Amino acid sequence: MGDVIKVSHLQQGYGKTIVLKEINLTLQAGDILGLIGPSGAGKTTLISTIMGMLRPQKGTVTVLDTTMPNRELLGRIGYMAQTDALYGDLTAMENLQFFGQMQGMAKAKLAERIQYAAGIVNLQSALGKYVKAYSGGMKRRLSLAIALLADPEILILDEPTVGIDPELRQQIWHELHRLAKNGKTILLTTHVMEDAEQSSYLMMIREGEAIAQGTPAALIEQYQVTSVEAAFLQAGRDQDAHSRND
Ligand SMILES: Nc1ncnc2c1ncn2[C@@H]1O[C@H](COP(=O)(O)OP(=O)(O)O)[C@@H](O)[C@H]1O
Ligand SMILES: [Mg+2]
Repeated sequence: MGDVIKVSHLQQGYGKTIVLKEINLTLQAGDILGLIGPSGAGKTTLISTIMGMLRPQKGTVTVLDTTMPNRELLGRIGYMAQTDALYGDLTAMENLQFFGQMQGMAKAKLAERIQYAAGIVNLQSALGKYVKAYSGGMKRRLSLAIALLADPEILILDEPTVGIDPELRQQIWHELHRLAKNGKTILLTTHVMEDAEQSSYLMMIREGEAIAQGTPAALIEQYQVTSVEAAFLQAGRDQDAHSRND
């Protein structure tokens, strides 16, 4: 089977500004790739490019062997944006129904998937509430539920765990691992080390450059440190040392 997501020699930016330089990555079915990096590193820009919302300045992005941007492919991706796109004047249940219907889900199937998705993020008892009364964390959870609704083969999640408490975070990770085991492909961004450690593969991005990539264990080994966080910090210091020498 081919790569599910493939990014080759990507340069990306806004107008004349270059944000991402020479990004290469491949994901296969069952992979969980964590994009980790400080705020402003270019994580959302990379995700938006993979989703086809931005056309590459240079290089290519393919999803399921299709060059992005491609509208049809979007139906096969469960996407959670960094900024929640929810209807505040609707209840959470109505939001889920709306987004499910948009994706053409049949009524009975949708009702069943809403119970599943709400269960994963512990929102069953809050489905009747208006979303404008939701906290930030509850909105993140609802956005994640929406991304899971149609049982997509690819999940692309931009900061899915912001404002989510450790216990629920673990429950969500348990489900992400189960989905990956069943062949789903998951790409997520985070600046939380707990998320990084759960990923099967990491790409550390800083100032638009991929400064290190590999499994969490390989990165710890490569930098001779004891945690992913320490590996990330060391990769950052190496990048600074390189740019001083340039
Ligand atoms: N729509 C935009 N127009 C111009 N610059 C942008 C836009 N979106 C993001 N940027 C800039 O691109 C850089 C990377 O941003 P982003 O991809 O959002 O990083 P991250 O998600 O890692 O925090 C930042 O310097 C940011 O200011
Ligand atoms: Mg971002």
